[in-house]
Amino acid sequence: MGKLGKKIGFIGTGQMGEAILKGLLTTELFEPDDIYVMDILDSRLQYLKENFGIAHLSSDRSTAYNYIVDNCDIVVLSIKPQVLKDVVECIKSCNWDKEKHTVISIIGGINTSFIEKYLPEIPVVRVMPNTPMLVNIGASGVAPGKNASKEHAKLVHGMFEALGVSYLVEEKYIDSITAISGCGPAYVYMMIEAMADGGVELGLPREMAQTLAAQTVMGGAKMILDTGEHPGKLKDKVCSPGGSTIAGVRALEQGAFRGTIMNAIEAGKVRMEEVGKKEESNK
Ligand SMILES: NC(=O)c1ccc[n+]([C@@H]2O[C@H](COP(=O)([O-])OP(=O)(O)OC[C@H]3O[C@@H](n4cnc5c(N)ncnc54)[C@H](OP(=O)(O)O)[C@@H]3O)[C@@H](O)[C@H]2O)c1
Repeated sequence: MGKLGKKIGFIGTGQMGEAILKGLLTTELFEPDDIYVMDILDSRLQYLKENFGIAHLSSDRSTAYNYIVDNCDIVVLSIKPQVLKDVVECIKSCNWDKEKHTVISIIGGINTSFIEKYLPEIPVVRVMPNTPMLVNIGASGVAPGKNASKEHAKLVHGMFEALGVSYLVEEKYIDSITAISGCGPAYVYMMIEAMADGGVELGLPREMAQTLAAQTVMGGAKMILDTGEHPGKLKDKVCSPGGSTIAGVRALEQGAFRGTIMNAIEAGKVRMEEVGKKEESNK
């Protein structure tokens, strides 16, 4: 058995389910035998079996939910918001035990209170993780619902801390966290792509330009995390008077670089709230 000494089940193992599962195996918190998976796609189950040695697999909706709830202490809801209603309607009649189970929901925009309506006594903890968990550099927010004790929150926070950084927060902050760390990887990829494009235009080979750009982003991020310095101060240190970097900074400011990124963060939060309200009101 893994270091956590618990069994975990995933309902839905697309991109995010896989990222969490892979991270938890890497940290040895769980062993393959501690993991149960339900996904409607047989090809996904086959993939998880071949790549991660997961043996407890099911795609049969008439039995799989019971199979997961009966065998697991922790149940992760890692499906899209659009299918949540169908899933909670199915799982609400499983053999839930409030002393044994903890439900983790990573579903964007959906409040714990919505899931608690279907599982009234069961501890639900909402998590907003991100895909860099695949390489153990995740950034997550963890918010306990009303039935979750400090111990439940600590358990889940500890799991996600092992996959990168994790903040234990009130649920009202989760949509804002989504806007930064959930959506943010896409913005970082776009910046790296743009830097590489710039390098290619100047005559560098694509592979070299892309590696230099990605390593520079990773290095800049590590400087901030390791030194705790304000990013503006670090930026100032790189800009010598009359130099090339400050010329680039002017070009970025002319393109409203920082304002555009702030707009993107806000747009992500607004959309996340809209999706959540739509899916919750459909129910
Ligand atoms: N992607 C991100 O960066 C990110 C970050 C944070 C949180 N999230 C949240 O994570 C959740 C999952 O996102 P994702 O990107 O992993 O989605 P995804 O790749 O579409 O994965 C969902 C998986 O669940 C399967 N599924 C559908 N209905 C099911 C059911 N009734 N029972 C069991 N499995 C079912 C899907 O199969 P089909 O493909 O056949 O439908 C798919 O394999 C979403 O709620 C999202 O808001 C995502």
